[in-house]
Amino acid sequence: MTEANGNQSAATHDALENLLQENRQFPPSPEFAAAAVARPGIYEEAAADRPAFWAKQARELLSWERDFETALDWSDPPFAKWFSGGTLNAAYNALDRHVENGLGDRVAIHFEGEPGDTRSYTYAQLTEEVKKAANAFESLGVSKGDRVAVYLPMIPEAVITMLACARIGAVHSVVFGGFSAEALRSRIEDAEAKLVVTADGTFRRGKPSALKPAVDAALAEDGHTVSSVVVVRRNNEPVDWTAGRDKWWDETVGSASAEHTAVAHDAEHPLFILYTSGTTGKPKGILHTTGGYLTQCAYTHRAVFDLKPETDVFWCTADIGWVTGHSYVTYAPLINGATQLMYEGTPDSPHQGRWWELVQKYKVSILYTAPTAIRTMMKWGEDIPARYDLSSLRVLGSVGEPINPEAWMWYRRVIGGDKAPIVDTWWQTETGAHMIAPLPGITATKPGSAQVPVPGIAVDIVDETGAPVPNGHGGYLVIREPWPAMLRGIWGDPQRFKDTYWSRFEGMYFAGDGAKKDDDGDIWLLGRVDDVMNVSGHRLSTTEIESALVSHPAVAEAAVVGAADETTGEAVVAFVILRGSAAEQPQEEITAELREHVGKEIGPIAKPRRILIVPELPKTRSGKIMRRLLKDIAEGREAGDATTLADNTVMTQIANSLKG
Ligand code: WT7
Repeated sequence: MTEANGNQSAATHDALENLLQENRQFPPSPEFAAAAVARPGIYEEAAADRPAFWAKQARELLSWERDFETALDWSDPPFAKWFSGGTLNAAYNALDRHVENGLGDRVAIHFEGEPGDTRSYTYAQLTEEVKKAANAFESLGVSKGDRVAVYLPMIPEAVITMLACARIGAVHSVVFGGFSAEALRSRIEDAEAKLVVTADGTFRRGKPSALKPAVDAALAEDGHTVSSVVVVRRNNEPVDWTAGRDKWWDETVGSASAEHTAVAHDAEHPLFILYTSGTTGKPKGILHTTGGYLTQCAYTHRAVFDLKPETDVFWCTADIGWVTGHSYVTYAPLINGATQLMYEGTPDSPHQGRWWELVQKYKVSILYTAPTAIRTMMKWGEDIPARYDLSSLRVLGSVGEPINPEAWMWYRRVIGGDKAPIVDTWWQTETGAHMIAPLPGITATKPGSAQVPVPGIAVDIVDETGAPVPNGHGGYLVIREPWPAMLRGIWGDPQRFKDTYWSRFEGMYFAGDGAKKDDDGDIWLLGRVDDVMNVSGHRLSTTEIESALVSHPAVAEAAVVGAADETTGEAVVAFVILRGSAAEQPQEEITAELREHVGKEIGPIAKPRRILIVPELPKTRSGKIMRRLLKDIAEGREAGDATTLADNTVMTQIANSLKG
């Protein structure tokens, strides 16, 4: 742990000191507070009896076919059961019941494609589409408990597919469209998926970008479990076709019946698997179930964003390939009967004002995005958002990585017109929904801090021994009590679930993040303390990228670090020892080849920003790579204390080779 903790660089510590001197506070306006969803007293109510608080939310926010008797069963920790015995259907809760309640004509999704094409789905229309997809998937032999891999761009069919799976009790496993064929293959294999839903492709910066070829490559070798591939027509580019296996969406789903009765499933029925990077090379299939997950998604979406479903237009910019897209695009907004915007493309296509043009066009009132996007927009200049009417915005959310006070203040002033509260939300793929966040009608917000646990959530910061740290001190972020949306395990690997999250501190969930309590007890997130990097809010594993590098014949050894980056938070920097004749090749050639190789193995997001060819790597006597020293080099600092190295000349050798 000491070595991992050493990953927090001197620069982080300086930044931290600045952060902790932050004393600006922005209390909600009296009008905002008076109309807010979350009432004062909610924290006390929730803390008095957490399971009872969540049971109340579960009954208020969801429709149950059969009510549950016990809120929480924690008889076999760390395997929690929430609302077990109760039965419900996620898709019915997201769709049919709103139609039954007279909200069929409310817009569920405004879709804007990158080329500017638009579609809107009312709740009635979306319900019909999901029923058809459910029938189509069933006709392809998919039934309750089967896994469905989803490899789609940000188009409505992604949401329709996920909800159709939920409707029939199939477990979706969405793989981000930016992941490679190889990454897709390993996820399909691990989950033993029966069906893959994909598209011919999408659009990226005005050009068609393909998806189907990656699915073909992932399924090229025999021995997989996939019997059908359903393909959405999106960019109309030609695709290869495997007869018998491949089906066009518009034919299969298009011709299916729009009558489909949702059967209720147990609250603990698996809803989805989502793979995320851990500290080892193999991604973990994080498993979420139904009742507890939906309860916490719906509650936080209302309380943290102050959602008024009748009038708000919600826009979460995350891709459905990440947990943010699962919880706050597919599930929470629809469970809550809200209207949302879904946008396919990049923020700078065809111009850098695209997002703000969309906010103006759809009168978006709640915007949820990542610090890396905010910092990018800051670089583009505030005259760009100034050209649009952003006065509809009333709540701004941030997620994915720590937001520096400067970006926070810019977000508030330039985008929020100096009045929209900012909610910085800390959570993880594993936690399923928000865990730490201000409540905008109650909390006086502080630039850079996620501040307080969500009502009903028991977060703490502890020292090496597991003892809580006093205010003004830092340590490890833990969760003390089970929470409704918590992961129920790692797909197919219960032992890894215990080892990864529950073994570091007795009886507590260890999140992998460092954090501090300021003098008011507010929480500041300090980044990961393990070998996980955060690049533009995307989670990447150092070891996973190292394995990708060493799988290339030219590489003998590789070490990867996340180096601080002004815009992306961290950037991937790799140190590589070449093998044999590769060392004679021109360096630019070989590094370009290695970047491509990582792109192919994992996906373009994992390509190292820089690859440095070195003669040796700094290792301890037990053979552990001292990434801390490499991080110093990557961030342009004098390397720190190297006395525990097995060979103390290594750092000089590296420095000399980089000079040369
Ligand atoms: C890791 C989880 C939660 C959805 C997106 C990322 C970092 C997340 C914050 C925040 C500081 C944050 C943490 C966490 N993180 N939100 N508001 N402030 N750090 O989900 O890919 O599972 O990554 O993202 O390091 O452990 P994820």
